[in-house]
Order: sequence, then structure tokens, then C-alpha cells
Amino acid sequence: MKSIKVLDKEFVPMIPADDIANEVRRVANEINRDYEGKTPLFLAILNGSFMFAADLLREINIPCEITFVKMSSYEGVSSTGTVNEIIGLNKSIEGRDVIIVEDIVDSGVTMAHMLETLKGHNPKSMEICTFFVKPENLKIDLDIRYTAMGIPNDFIIGYGLDYDGYGRNLEDVWVLKS
Ligand code: IMP
Ligand code: MG
Repeated sequence: MKSIKVLDKEFVPMIPADDIANEVRRVANEINRDYEGKTPLFLAILNGSFMFAADLLREINIPCEITFVKMSSYEGVSSTGTVNEIIGLNKSIEGRDVIIVEDIVDSGVTMAHMLETLKGHNPKSMEICTFFVKPENLKIDLDIRYTAMGIPNDFIIGYGLDYDGYGRNLEDVWVLKS
């Protein structure tokens, strides 16, 4: 089987770009239907979601906006441990129908923090749209409205996802060789 090497690890093909494109279209159509008459604000979480967000938006045919944010973690700020802050939220989401765009929800910890912080900015509604989810690894009960693909608990790269910064540019998705 063909494989590629990224840094010290070997990856094998998992999902071809055509399959990815089909799922993006399916999710976009659901959003087009669900948000008809509304003007959603897509909030894409960097870095991983840049490719999915770009593809998704091209398939959205209702009026919409997009903005990008990043999550940062601070340690030792409080006795409870990690404090997460959303950087780059320079657009008001108050009263807006927000659709969070993520590349992957794994344990769900990142998304849970994101939801918690965003709630404080008073959006009218907030839904999650993620390309991948690893259902077996979900540790938090998240209500994920839109999922393109559920995958097993394996490490993947490509389509925006990285291994130590590399592999985001791959148009197919590759999985760590076991
Ligand atoms: P969570 O907080 O455990 O849900 O982690 C989500 C984050 O972990 C994602 O935004 C990714 O950056 C990263 N991640 C989780 N699984 C993978 C993977 O298979 N490949 C690359 N990054 C991943
Ligand atoms: Mg990410």
C-alpha cells in the first residue's frame, strides 16, 4: 500500500478528496435548508478548520458572514488550572445565529471551552459544524448539529489537520500506520 512519511511517522491513505467534497456538499445543503431566511455567522476555529471552512462556504447559498478565531490556553492563572481565551473575536456575535466550524472534535474539551466562552457574548443561537468526530473518544456530552464524518479513534492528517504542524496541505486524509 502506498504511504507517506511526515516527520518521523508513516501514514497510509484513508479518505480520498472526492469523498470529502461530497460530505462537505451534504453538510452545506443541510445548513442552506436549516438557515433559510437567516443570515448565519460562521465562526471558524483556526488553524485546522481553514480548508473545511473555505470549501463549506463555497457551497453555502444563503446570505452569510464568516470570521476566524483561535483558542489560546493559559496555565496557572487560577487554581483550577487551564484558562482558555478566544483570540481574534473582533466581531460582535450578539444576537447572531452562530455556526462554529471545526476540523475535528476528539475528546470535545476544546469545543466545550469554546461554547462556554462564546455563550458570554450572547449569540441568538449557536450550533457546531465539524468535519470529523471521533465518537469513541468523546468525553463531554456535546450536541453536535452537523458532522461530515465519524471516524475511529485513529490519528489522521490532511485536509487541514496536522501532525506537529505538517500535513495540513494534503488534499486526501491519511491515517497513522499501525
Ligand atoms: P479535543 O479538545 O480533544 O476535542 O481536541 C481537538 C483538537 O485536537 C483538534 O482541534 C485538533 O487540533 C486536535 N486533533 C484531534 N485529533 C486529531 C487527529 O487525528 N489529527 C490531528 N489533530 C487532531
Ligand atoms: Mg483544531
